[in-house]
Amino acid sequence: MVIIRLENVNKVFQPDVHVLNDINLEIKDKEFMVLVGPSGCGKSTCLNIIAGLEYVTNGKVFFDDADVTYLPPKERKIAMVFQSYALYPHMNVRDNMGFALKLAKVNKNEINKRVNAAAKLLEISNLLDRKPGELSGGQRQRVALGRSIVRNPTVFLFDEPLSNLDAKLRIQMRGEIIKLQRTLQITQVYVTHDQVEAMSMADRIAILFNGKFQQIGTPSDVYNKPANMFVAGFIGSPTMNFFNSKLDSNKLIFGRQEYALPLNIIEILRNKKVNEFILGIRPEHINISPVPNDQSYEVELTVVEFLGAETIITYEFADGISGMVSASGFYDAKMGDKAYISFPSEKIHIFDKETEINIIHKS
Ligand SMILES: Nc1ncnc2c1ncn2[C@@H]1O[C@H](COP(=O)(O)OP(=O)(O)O)[C@@H](O)[C@H]1O
Ligand SMILES: [Mg+2]
Repeated sequence: MVIIRLENVNKVFQPDVHVLNDINLEIKDKEFMVLVGPSGCGKSTCLNIIAGLEYVTNGKVFFDDADVTYLPPKERKIAMVFQSYALYPHMNVRDNMGFALKLAKVNKNEINKRVNAAAKLLEISNLLDRKPGELSGGQRQRVALGRSIVRNPTVFLFDEPLSNLDAKLRIQMRGEIIKLQRTLQITQVYVTHDQVEAMSMADRIAILFNGKFQQIGTPSDVYNKPANMFVAGFIGSPTMNFFNSKLDSNKLIFGRQEYALPLNIIEILRNKKVNEFILGIRPEHINISPVPNDQSYEVELTVVEFLGAETIITYEFADGISGMVSASGFYDAKMGDKAYISFPSEKIHIFDKETEINIIHKS
């Protein structure tokens, strides 16, 4: 068992790129933790610090109670899988998978046993005699996983391992990596820039941006209770609608629209002593209909995209403010049509304009 702990970790690249700014993270034993964030936010740097491939500028890294901050990678019992498989092209799959064990002078029988077991787990037993050039992308990625599994790691680290695969294969491998996690029962840290991958795979997600974890929580936490506007906008697609609003007695005014607030929320906003807020609502939470109701706004539809399972619609209020709705299934409308949209009060988010913190969903 391994609990991974980062304590006040800072990483500054010369001359002054402060990539990780005093971050703290505890990854539980056997947890599947996903680090997610836009490209360049420091995910790989964070993972490399856990691996020992990179050292902190200051702060500490613990595996259970052991301080491993400056321990070299080979003493950490970790395995790491990257986007590029880097298999040896002249070796067959069996030799590729057993190579690290051979270097470590593990005896031949034991190597065979472990390679066979990993191959069985990954369903590549029939490929052991092939060379990497004779494999598909997905099969190569399996060999790369197998090469790591045979070393019986206590921690498994992944850095965007599926980025090279086509969309369909990526979804399949996603499922297989999760299955593998259930079987291996070891602590795993998985880095991706893809929020869908993060949502679908993680026990918990840590969202990194601007040198800080913006939120650490379950997929349901970060989707339903985003801590701030960054998380709200990063998780979910299409992205959340945001409207600059002013509080006016019991409603929020945005452009020429007003939104009547539930009593409990009015109370919270009044206590804030400011009157500018951001009203947020996800496209899939907006109701759209060709007929009005007493809570709806009239809008013009400027783009209508039918994707099969859903229809993504861009709308515009009469004052020019625009946003997106995602209607499930087929929504029968075309560009230029009028429609009526409404925002169910249990689905709205309200952010402090200054701090961008989510005021009504503090988690
Ligand atoms: N060895 C390095 N020297 C200088 N800057 C680096 C080095 N490694 C990474 N960086 C910078 O640190 C930032 C984070 O990089 P990285 O951790 O690779 O981001 P991510 O994996 O999230 O895309 C980037 O701005 C990158 O240019
Ligand atoms: Mg990276």
